Amino acid sequence: MAKEIWIADVQSGAHDGDEIELKGWVKRTRGSNKIRFVVLRDSTATIQCVAKRDSIGDESFEELKGALIEASLEIRGIVNPDDRAPGGHELIVTSVRVVGGVRPDSPFPITESAMESADGGETEFLLDNRHLYLRTSRMTNMLKIRSSVFGAIHSYFRDLDFTEYQAPNFVAGAVEGGSTLFEVPYFGKKAYLTQSWQLYAEAAMPALERLYTIAPSFRAEKSRTRRHLTEFWHAEMEVAWASNSEIMNHGEGVVRHIAKRLLNERENELNEIGRDLDLLARYADNPYPRMRYDEAIETLQSMNVDVEWGQDLDYSKEKVLTQDFDVPHFLTHYPKVAKPFYHRVDPDDEKYVLCHDLLAPEGYGEIIGGGERTWSEEEILARIDEEGVPREPYQFYIDTRTYGGVPHGGFGLGVDRVCSWLSGAEHIREVIPFPRDSRRVTP
Ligand code: 4AD
Ligand code: MG
Repeated sequence: MAKEIWIADVQSGAHDGDEIELKGWVKRTRGSNKIRFVVLRDSTATIQCVAKRDSIGDESFEELKGALIEASLEIRGIVNPDDRAPGGHELIVTSVRVVGGVRPDSPFPITESAMESADGGETEFLLDNRHLYLRTSRMTNMLKIRSSVFGAIHSYFRDLDFTEYQAPNFVAGAVEGGSTLFEVPYFGKKAYLTQSWQLYAEAAMPALERLYTIAPSFRAEKSRTRRHLTEFWHAEMEVAWASNSEIMNHGEGVVRHIAKRLLNERENELNEIGRDLDLLARYADNPYPRMRYDEAIETLQSMNVDVEWGQDLDYSKEKVLTQDFDVPHFLTHYPKVAKPFYHRVDPDDEKYVLCHDLLAPEGYGEIIGGGERTWSEEEILARIDEEGVPREPYQFYIDTRTYGGVPHGGFGLGVDRVCSWLSGAEHIREVIPFPRDSRRVTP
C-alpha cells in the first residue's frame, strides 16, 4: 500500500526505462477517444502520462477518461525520457486504477482561471475553499517553505543548546496590553488566550537559562492588514545573563539561518513562486544594522510622515521606513511610554527602554520584538503600578524577581511574518494553511 516512487525522482531520471507504479492526483486531463494525456501530480512534482486505448484496453481507458481533475489514481507505465515533455519525462501508461473519483456533477471548484484571477489566494471564493486550495502548486510550495522555516528555527536554537519549553495557552493576564486580548469563559471565571509565551518562560529562565518555543499566540486584532492574524505562530526565546545587544545577535542569527536554510532546501519552491533568490542571499550573508528609535523618527519626519516622538510605529510608518532598507534593521531604545511594563528602563536615560524591533526590508516591517526585562523586584513592582496593571495575576512573574532575579531578556519572532516576507507573499494569509482573522474562522 505504501507509496514507493515519487514523481520528483522520476523527473530526476532515477527510473528511466523502468515500468513503475505512480500514485497521485489528476492535475489536468485532455485527449480524444483514442489517446489521453493526464498530468499527474503528487506532493513532489508532476508528470505527463500518455495512455492509448489500443495499448491499455477499453476498460482501463474508459476509467482514465472518467477521471476528472483531482481524482486519485494508481497508474502503471514505462518511464520515457523526452526533452519535449514538461520536466523531461513522460509515463507511457500500461494500466490505470481510479482510487477516489470525482463526480461529474461536482467538479473540483478551484479552476485555473479562478487561480489566475486570485493573485495569491486572496479572493473570498478561494478562502472559502481553502481546504481544496491547499492542493494547488502555489500553496504546496508555500507550505514546504513554511516547514523549512520551522525546521531552521528549531535547529538554530537546539544547536546552541537551548531547551524547548512549553507555556500554557490559557492565562489570567495580558502580556502585550489589554486591547488585543481574547477573553474565554473558564468555568464561571474569565481566562484569556495567551498573546505570548514570554511571562511563563521568564519563570523557567532560572531553571533552564536558555529556552525557546514555537507555539501559537492569539491577538484579537481588529485591523486587517497584510501582516496580522488573530492566531499566529510565535517563535520565542529567553536567555539568562543577557543584554539587549546579545539578544539582538540571536535575532539576527536566527533570521540569517532561516534565509540560508531556505536557499539550501527550497530553491525550487522559491523559484516556482517567483521569488528573487539574490534577495535571500543578501539577507543570509550580511549583518543587520542597528539604529535608535529617535533616528527612525527623524528619518520619517524628514520624509514628511506624520509621526510624533513617543508613538509606537505601526505598519503604515514601518512600511515607509523599510522601503529603502537593503537588509533588516534593528530599531532600539523605544520610549518607555510606547512599550509594556516588562521592558527594562534604560539606566542611562529613563525615557527609554532597552528593547528592539527587527524591521524587514521591502516595506515589510516588524518581524521580531524583544529586549531586556525589568528584572529587579523593586523595579517590576514600580512598573506594574505605574502602568495601572493589577499585581495579582502577575504574582508568579514577580516571584521570579523576588527569588534571585538576574538580568535576562528575549524576543518573539512572528513565524508567519517571516514566511511571508521571505517568500515574497502579498499577504500573510498566503503562508498559513487556515488563516484566522477578525472576519474568518472557517473552514
Ligand atoms: O512585538 P510582540 O508583540 O512581542 C511580544 O509578544 C513579546 N512578548 C515577545 C518576546 O519578547 N518574547 O510580538 C512579537 C512578534 C512581532 O514582532 C510579530 O512578528 C509577531 O510577533 N506578531 C504577529 N504576527 C502575526 N499576526 C499578529 N497579529 C502578530 N502580532 C505579533
Ligand atoms: Mg512588537
